[in-house]
Amino acid sequence: MEEIEGKKNKFPLNPNNIIINRKDEYLDKVEKRSTQLFLIAKNDNLEVIKQHITADKTFQIAAGEENSFELFYILEGTVASEDEKITLAAGDSITAKSGEEEKYFKTLTEVTLLYISSTPIFASEQKKINELLALNEQIADKDTETHDHCDRLQRLSRLTAKELDLSEEKLFNLGYASFLHDIGKAKVPKSLLQKPGRLTESEWEIMKKHAKWGKTILLERFSNKYFEQVAEIIYQHHERYDGQGYPQGLKGDEILIEAQILTVVDAYDAMVYERPYQRALTRKEALAEIKREKGKQFAPRAVEAFLKAEKKFVGQS
Ligand SMILES: [Fe+2]
Ligand SMILES: [Fe+2]
Repeated sequence: MEEIEGKKNKFPLNPNNIIINRKDEYLDKVEKRSTQLFLIAKNDNLEVIKQHITADKTFQIAAGEENSFELFYILEGTVASEDEKITLAAGDSITAKSGEEEKYFKTLTEVTLLYISSTPIFASEQKKINELLALNEQIADKDTETHDHCDRLQRLSRLTAKELDLSEEKLFNLGYASFLHDIGKAKVPKSLLQKPGRLTESEWEIMKKHAKWGKTILLERFSNKYFEQVAEIIYQHHERYDGQGYPQGLKGDEILIEAQILTVVDAYDAMVYERPYQRALTRKEALAEIKREKGKQFAPRAVEAFLKAEKKFVGQS
C-alpha cells in the first residue's frame, strides 16, 4: 500500500499531459441533420469521435488516402450493411483501410458509435460551417440585415415551430436556415444592397435572385446531404401562401412548413426593428399587419403558431 502511495507521489497527474473528459465534456461538437459528432480526443493524425446517428440513416465508410484508416466501434444500437446481409450490434466494429472501396451501412435503430479516424473529418466539417458563418457576418456588414436580426429570427422561428410540434430534425434545419436565410446576398452587389430608396425593376430582379443563390451557396459548400433541407428552406423563404412570391411561385402547402414559418418571422422582425429606409412599426401595428396577411402572404397555420410564440418571445426578452 505504502509503495503504491509512494509511486503515486512520484508520478502525480500532470494537467498538461493527462486530459480527463467527463461524460458531457468534449473538445468540440458538430450537429448536423441526423448526426451529432463529439470530438473526444485528437492529435495531429487521429481523431476520436463519439457519433450519434438517428435510425434509418445511411452512412459511408471509406478510409480514403494512403496509410489512413477508419474504425467504427458500435457502443449502442444496430447497424446493417446495405443489403442487410450483415447485422452489427454493440461490441462489433467495422474497420476500413486505405485503398478499399467505400461501403455504405445503415442504422436500423438510433446508434452510438465510437469513430476513430486518421482523416481529420471533424476539422473539415467544422471549418466549412465556420466559413459559412463568417460569410453570413460579411453580409450583415454590407446589408441592413444585422447579426441581431438573424439571431432573433433563429430564436423566434424555433419557438414558432415548437408550437406546431415539429420534429427535432425540422427544428434544427429551421434554426440553421433562419440564421443563414439571406446568405445568397453575398452575390448581390454592395451598391444594390445599400441603395437608399427604391430599386429599379432590373435591380429588383437581381435582388430577388438571393433566394436561389442562398441555396446554391449551401449546396456548393456541402457536398453531403446534411444541408440539403436547409438549402431548400432558404430557397423558399420569399414564397407567398397565395402563390405571388418568388422564385418559384409556390402556393399553399407546396411551401415547406419551415419556410412558411421563416417568412412570417422574417417579415415581423423587419417591421418591428427599424431599417435605414423605413420607419419601424410598433409591435401592435406589426401584429395587425401579420394578421391582415394571413392566408395571403402568410400560411394561416404559421401565423397562428407565430402569434402564440411571439407572446412568449416578448415575455422572455
Ligand atoms: Fe431574403
Ligand atoms: Fe431577413
